Amino acid sequence: MKSRVDIAGITGITEITNSPDSTTGTKIASGRLYGIGVGPGDPELLTLKALRLLKSAAVVAYQAAEDHDSVARSIVAPYLTGEQTEVCFHFPRSLDPQTAKASYDQAIAPIADHLTAGRDVAVLCEGDPLFYGSFMYVFTRLSGQFDTEVVPGVSSPMACASALGVPLSYQNDIFSVLSATLPDAVLAAQLLNADAVVIIKLRRHFAKVREVLDRLGLLSRAKYIERATTTAQRIVAIDQVNADQVPYFSMIVVPSKVQL
Ligand SMILES: C[S@@+](CC[C@H](N)C(=O)[O-])C[C@H]1O[C@@H](n2cnc3c(N)ncnc32)[C@H](O)[C@@H]1O
Repeated sequence: MKSRVDIAGITGITEITNSPDSTTGTKIASGRLYGIGVGPGDPELLTLKALRLLKSAAVVAYQAAEDHDSVARSIVAPYLTGEQTEVCFHFPRSLDPQTAKASYDQAIAPIADHLTAGRDVAVLCEGDPLFYGSFMYVFTRLSGQFDTEVVPGVSSPMACASALGVPLSYQNDIFSVLSATLPDAVLAAQLLNADAVVIIKLRRHFAKVREVLDRLGLLSRAKYIERATTTAQRIVAIDQVNADQVPYFSMIVVPSKVQL
C-alpha cells in the first residue's frame, strides 16, 4: 500500500510500514531498519543482499568503542558511496543493567530519528547481526516500531574453522560456543559436555582458558586464530601464544573429537 507523506520536510510517495503511531494506533510512514551482517573481516565475505541494501540506504550506522574506529565500517569501507549520512554510536561497558539500558536507549536515539524522518538506515554488524552482535540492542529497541529486516552474515566460528582448515562438527556432535569470560568451572563443565567448541572473547582470559584446556587434556586439539579472514590474520600454535597480547578478535577452536 502506498501513501503520500510529509515527515520532517520530506514529501513523497513512501511505502506504508508497520510503524504504529503510539498516540493514535494508526500506522505512520517511516524509513526501514536494516541489520546488515558484514561478515568476519574480508570485504568479499559480504552477501550480495547485504551489499545491495548497504549501497541503497540513505544512512549507514555502526557501533564503535569510544577510542577506536568501527570494525564493521572498515569492512564495508570499499562499498560506501560517499553520499550517505553516517551515524557512529557507542555502547557503554557498564555492568549495572539499569545504567547500561539507559545508555543503550540514548545511543540508538539518532537511528530512530532518521527512521522517523523517512530515511532507511543500514546498521552494520561484524559477523552475523543476531549472533552476539551489537545490532541486537538496536533490534530489541526499534523493530517493534519500524519495519525491520535482518540480513545474516558469515559468522566468526565458520570463518575461523575455514581459515584453520578444520571440519568443525559432524552428524550428532554437540557444538558449543563458550565465552572466555565465564568462570573456569563453567568452562570446564561445558567443554566436557560438548564434542566441538569455539571459545570467543579471549583477550585477557586467554591464560585461564589455556589452563582449563590443558587440565582437561584438550590442548592438543585446540587451535588459536586471530583476525580471521583479514589481511592481519594470524594462526599461532596454542602453546606459542603470548597471553598478554591476545586481541579481542581472536578465537580458540576445538574441532570435533572424531574426524571422519
Ligand atoms: C561479540 S562477538 C561478535 C560475533 C559476531 N557477531 C559473529 O557473528 O561472529 C565477538 C567475538 O567474536 C570473535 N570474532 C569475531 N570476528 C572474528 C575474527 N575475524 N577472527 C577471530 N575471532 C573473531 C572473537 O572471539 C570476538 O571476541
